[in-house]
Amino acid sequence: MKHNPEPPNGKLGVLLPGLGAVATTFIAGVLAVRKQLAEPVGSFTQMGTIRLGKRTEHRRPLIRDFVPLADLDALAFGGWDIYDDNVYDAAVNAGVLDTQLLDALRDELSAISPMAAVFDHEYVKRLDGPNVKKGKDKMALAEALVDDMERFRSEHGCDRLVMIWCASTETFIEEQDVHLSIDAFEQGLRDSHPAIAPSMIYAYAAIRSGVPFANGAPNLSADIPALVELAKRTGTPIAGKDFKTGQTLMKTIVAPGLKARSLGVHGWFSTNILGNRDGEVLDDPGSFKTKETSKLSVLGSIFEQDFNSKLYADLYHKIRINYYPPRGDNKESWDNIDIFGWLGYPMQIKINFLCRDSILAAPIVLDLALLLDLARRVEMSGIQEWLSFFFKSPQAQEGLRPQHDLFQQLMKLENTLRFVQGESLITHLGLDYYEDTPED
Ligand SMILES: NC(=O)c1ccc[n+]([C@@H]2O[C@H](COP(=O)([O-])OP(=O)(O)OC[C@H]3O[C@@H](n4cnc5c(N)ncnc54)[C@H](O)[C@@H]3O)[C@@H](O)[C@H]2O)c1
Repeated sequence: MKHNPEPPNGKLGVLLPGLGAVATTFIAGVLAVRKQLAEPVGSFTQMGTIRLGKRTEHRRPLIRDFVPLADLDALAFGGWDIYDDNVYDAAVNAGVLDTQLLDALRDELSAISPMAAVFDHEYVKRLDGPNVKKGKDKMALAEALVDDMERFRSEHGCDRLVMIWCASTETFIEEQDVHLSIDAFEQGLRDSHPAIAPSMIYAYAAIRSGVPFANGAPNLSADIPALVELAKRTGTPIAGKDFKTGQTLMKTIVAPGLKARSLGVHGWFSTNILGNRDGEVLDDPGSFKTKETSKLSVLGSIFEQDFNSKLYADLYHKIRINYYPPRGDNKESWDNIDIFGWLGYPMQIKINFLCRDSILAAPIVLDLALLLDLARRVEMSGIQEWLSFFFKSPQAQEGLRPQHDLFQQLMKLENTLRFVQGESLITHLGLDYYEDTPED
């Protein structure tokens, strides 16, 4: 691993499988920020600051001034979709951003047209589209994606690429033998094995080409031993799964607080209404199971039930997602939390979050693109656990429990950046109260 990387030269190509609501909101957002039409609110790298050194030093630069990340002007955008709408039309269809803003960006957005997707209706039952690649087997489809990336790289004069999966949630697949080694996986590609979903083909093509890969959806994709091994072999950073937005963001803010105060929880009921295409896809039981598994993992890990059995052993956690078209991308979620306190006396908390799904997800796409590019430049390969902050179901090394607590995730993220830049790590000990030499 390298420290104090040089500022990056040249262009960074951001390639997005899936040019739907999240991806188009991300691209239009970056273009709007570039033109100073809006602020990149919600982006850790653009708006966030980081404390450095002792508190008495009062150093708190913006993250983007502290670490040499790619500049927004140096980003080029591309992607794949099963529909052939250009990004302007897709953004209008998604209905997230005002048409007035989109019209101000129309030329740039219309110039981005999706490349033909690797797609199979079997893995996303609610969708079908015309812009799909044909190939004799799944390996041939992977090769076609590698060619797409190379063509994009040369046409746009990119020095580096990253790929962020923003496509629909695929049906639930469990880890199987074909996922366990690179050899088995490559044979599986040649045999078009049914347990190799399209998202895994994109992930394989990226990782084999040394292109950092992040997975914004809950499907397994790169979270299988074969692709983790390939990432180590090709020196490629990978991260996933499932952007942490909306209800799960709230959960990972509230749950650590309850645990910190040793308050017990009997039950946590979470329900949502959502009317965008993502909601329609999640209406299919196979895709819903993938999402449910991702969302359910959060509380068990934060409450560490095996170590805190008196407080959380009988926790009942239920999640519902209901497709309700009138709401479009403006999701509404309700949480009912049955908690108990001193001597076991019960209390309740209700959270009603009227959020905008893609508005919360778009800045995460930007942060991941810039931070994965940084990881590649400082030669951090394989699973990027320090990026867990951005995910609902963080990918972790085998045998390790993923970290879900947002505040521990933030500490790890910030300390990793300090480490990369050769700054001292911050422990929040505050020894200056008790010792002559202030340390922290
Ligand atoms: N918006 C959020 O807050 C949020 C949070 C976490 C995760 N996600 C996940 O992010 C993903 C994108 O969400 P969205 O709201 O943009 O959904 P969307 O339905 O608007 O966009 C997904 C796009 O992917 C395309 N697609 C599907 N399979 C594809 C394939 N194999 N190759 C290329 N394109 C493909 C679809 O045609 C569609 O245009 C979903 O999986 C969603 O679950 C979203």
